[in-house]
Amino acid sequence: MAGKIPQNFINELIDRTDIIDIIDSYVPLKKTGKNHKACCPFHDEKTPSFSVNQDKQFYYCFGCNASGTVITFLMEYLHMDFVEAVEDLASRAGMEVPRESGSSFDQTNQSAKLYALMESATKYYSDQLENNKNNIINYLKKRNINKATAIEFELGFAPPGWDNLIINLGKSKELIKELLDIGVIIKSDRGGQYDRFRDRLMFPIRDQRGRVIGFGGRVLNNDTPKYLNSPETRIFQKGRELYGLFQARKSIKDLSELYVVEGYMDVIALAQFGIKNVVATLGTAATNEHIEKMFRITNKLIFCFDGDEAGERAAWRALENSLSFLKNSKQVYFIFLPSKEDPDTFVRKNGKDAFISPEMLTPLSEFLFNSIGNNINLEVLEGRSEMINKTLPFLAKLPHDPYKDIVIKKLSEITRYEIDDIQRQLSTSNKNDLVEKKVGKSSKEKNRGIEKVRWLIRCLLHQPSLALVLDIKSTSSLSALDSSGINFLCELIKLIKETPNITVAGILENWRNTKFEARLCELASEEDEFKEIGVTNEVFVDAIDGLIEAHQKEFETFKTKSSPLELSEKEKLKYREMQKSTQDT
Ligand code: UTP
Ligand code: MN
Repeated sequence: MAGKIPQNFINELIDRTDIIDIIDSYVPLKKTGKNHKACCPFHDEKTPSFSVNQDKQFYYCFGCNASGTVITFLMEYLHMDFVEAVEDLASRAGMEVPRESGSSFDQTNQSAKLYALMESATKYYSDQLENNKNNIINYLKKRNINKATAIEFELGFAPPGWDNLIINLGKSKELIKELLDIGVIIKSDRGGQYDRFRDRLMFPIRDQRGRVIGFGGRVLNNDTPKYLNSPETRIFQKGRELYGLFQARKSIKDLSELYVVEGYMDVIALAQFGIKNVVATLGTAATNEHIEKMFRITNKLIFCFDGDEAGERAAWRALENSLSFLKNSKQVYFIFLPSKEDPDTFVRKNGKDAFISPEMLTPLSEFLFNSIGNNINLEVLEGRSEMINKTLPFLAKLPHDPYKDIVIKKLSEITRYEIDDIQRQLSTSNKNDLVEKKVGKSSKEKNRGIEKVRWLIRCLLHQPSLALVLDIKSTSSLSALDSSGINFLCELIKLIKETPNITVAGILENWRNTKFEARLCELASEEDEFKEIGVTNEVFVDAIDGLIEAHQKEFETFKTKSSPLELSEKEKLKYREMQKSTQDT
């Protein structure tokens, strides 16, 4: 594994690639005016609102706000990760991806070793399953898991005993340390170490890219704990990973829907019955990260938890965590199994067709209204207002989308409360939230300053060449002003001066994976006043001068305070900075 990809290579790659060619090969584009258009590949629509701008090397959808560079497109559309996308573009452009050496190299190198060791452990466990003729094979038979399924999911066996892995894989001190790092062995109190998994059926957990990152191990009898899992390690974070996702994506290219179940065994049993689009959370509730990850590859999630109280609670958590994602045709359904059944037992009893039958599905909206309305008497107006009050917090979490409107309409029908009134209630509660958030926030004056800086940044994103008209004097006075927004503006100007042909895409790639990324993408998508005429050099220079002037006024006010004692510590610092910068220029 190699080190970090240098930023100047990314800049050059963006420069040599044409976003139109790349996107057009997946989503045929039609040229209309300045832009190329198509129906958006990221949401369902009939009239095209997805537009790609060649000058900016940037795409944007007016319908769902999807936006980004050619790298973003490959990541979102083909589900590549960043490195894969860069490698893909580089090979099209006939370029070799260079790597930086140094600490990040060591880190990737270190992780690569851990992944490789995970792979060896997987192989070791699966060899044991082959070799062991007794208990484990009987257990698989008892659970009706056939050979093909065992192979597909790479099931294995951790034999009884305390030092199997150490003997087989831990041949050096360094390897023992790495086995500890990946969590398959444990340090003992006496200074030695022992195998974490003993006499258990092993389930390797692969990440989306297919690397083994952890294990689950099941006892073959009724001992407890029933399942042991790998601890969280450098390469394994439970709240993000989904068991079976790798296998599901391998068997089905376009996942139109995805089942989410609780257990390893559920994934495996459904797969054996030909239902391959199934994943399981790893003994946790479905987190926001899980849901976001799944909604990147499918529009429809079906949560199917065990038919018990814990299953119902898990479903409710999944509902709460899904609400904020329900836009652009993203949908959530639930399957509630009969009591004491889980997907594994259900499919074995009733077969595939029963499981995948549409009749099994409860839409999220129905689950929401039924659960809240369960003990409420809607015949009396007290009950109806209770229903409204209890539902509003959930509605508030829904993003703006037709879905939200029809859920509101439904609530209006159930409670006979006007749609407008529900909307009024929602917006007043939103406003209250906003007021709360604003308390303690900066003064209006300061906000106006930030607005100006933001406007300047937006100008540069849409017309990078504006930066080239700034002379050294104004850039250096600007960089003497100390505020995080202005510092950012200066960095941006510096980048453009260094790479005069840079496009908005090139700029965005310089801030990928930073806290600025999302905001920059938003600013790059707001086109309004730049559409046709753009901003003239004069207007831009005036605005920069205005910013510097406003700052110098502040400086004058400082000076009129008669003694330094009137300045706060922070003001003193700023004052000194300002004095320094006026001396320099
Ligand atoms: P279940 O007990 O429903 O698992 O727990 P299952 O897959 O149906 O197992 P079988 O059919 O009894 O063999 C659901 C999930 O919760 C986690 C595991 O991820 C399991 O797959 N779990 C459960 C644990 O981590 N530890 C436990 O002791 C039990
Ligand atoms: Mn089960």
